[in-house]
Amino acid sequence: MKINYQETTNDLLTRIDIHNKYGSKDIDQWMLDTLDLKPGIKILDVACGGGKQCISFYKYLKGDCDITGGDVNQELLDQAELENVKLGSPFKVIPLDFDKRFPFDDQTFDLVSCCFAIYYASDIPFTIREMHRVLKPGGRIFTTGPMPENKKVFYDIIREATGKEIPPMPGSSRYSTEIYDAIAQTFSKVETHIFENPLIFKQPGPFIAYTRASLSEDRRLWTSLFENSDEFEKMMQKILKVADERIKRDGELVMTKVVGGFVGTK
Ligand SMILES: C[S@@+](CC[C@H](N)C(=O)[O-])C[C@H]1O[C@@H](n2cnc3c(N)ncnc32)[C@H](O)[C@@H]1O
Repeated sequence: MKINYQETTNDLLTRIDIHNKYGSKDIDQWMLDTLDLKPGIKILDVACGGGKQCISFYKYLKGDCDITGGDVNQELLDQAELENVKLGSPFKVIPLDFDKRFPFDDQTFDLVSCCFAIYYASDIPFTIREMHRVLKPGGRIFTTGPMPENKKVFYDIIREATGKEIPPMPGSSRYSTEIYDAIAQTFSKVETHIFENPLIFKQPGPFIAYTRASLSEDRRLWTSLFENSDEFEKMMQKILKVADERIKRDGELVMTKVVGGFVGTK
């Protein structure tokens, strides 16, 4: 099933920035601790977006590695390339559509990572088989995505403000079930690692900025809640009111990110 979704650079960078400013934990550090990467390895980062994970791998391995980042979105590839050039172009940035055969031979990589993206694949078992195919024997896949308890407050506030049901999200509705199962069926061993990061908002402003960057019309995931930009703005006013009331009542809003890291071994 083709998922009607597209990421935009602005929305993605806004959400990453808010995680960094209002959360106390560092997800990239958690990823690196979980993976314990060895120097000299060959990495493919699928759906690399603006290059966040490529940069982390490169810095952690102090350049002793071969990294390729691939994404379907040209705007995000340009952003990744911009960051790459700032570092002296240590990695490769390529167009890659994970709904199609990957442009690599069998058994090419030691690690294939795919952060916050696998659930947008049209045919998840196909994409996971492609990741498995391009891994060397003993190589690992690493995926991240939302667990069922993720951002409960965020969904509660939207439900209360709009009086509507949350549309089924490709990630939160399937990551810990369908996607975990597809990895477990393809790889010989899968481990689950959990990352929890409470984002603490003392003012509604940054929570609203995060909500805008999630619900934005451009991403196409939330359009069952509004018909046009006028309605979107009215909805945001209602969300602001509920968030503001909660902060006045409790002194803060704590939105906890609960992320699952699945590590599969070939
Ligand atoms: C939430 S972003 C995550 C980006 C990056 N991994 C990060 O964590 O910052 C999801 C990414 O999936 C990419 N994506 C969506 N459909 C794709 C496809 N068919 N093939 C490759 N990438 C895709 C988007 O372009 C976007 O960069």
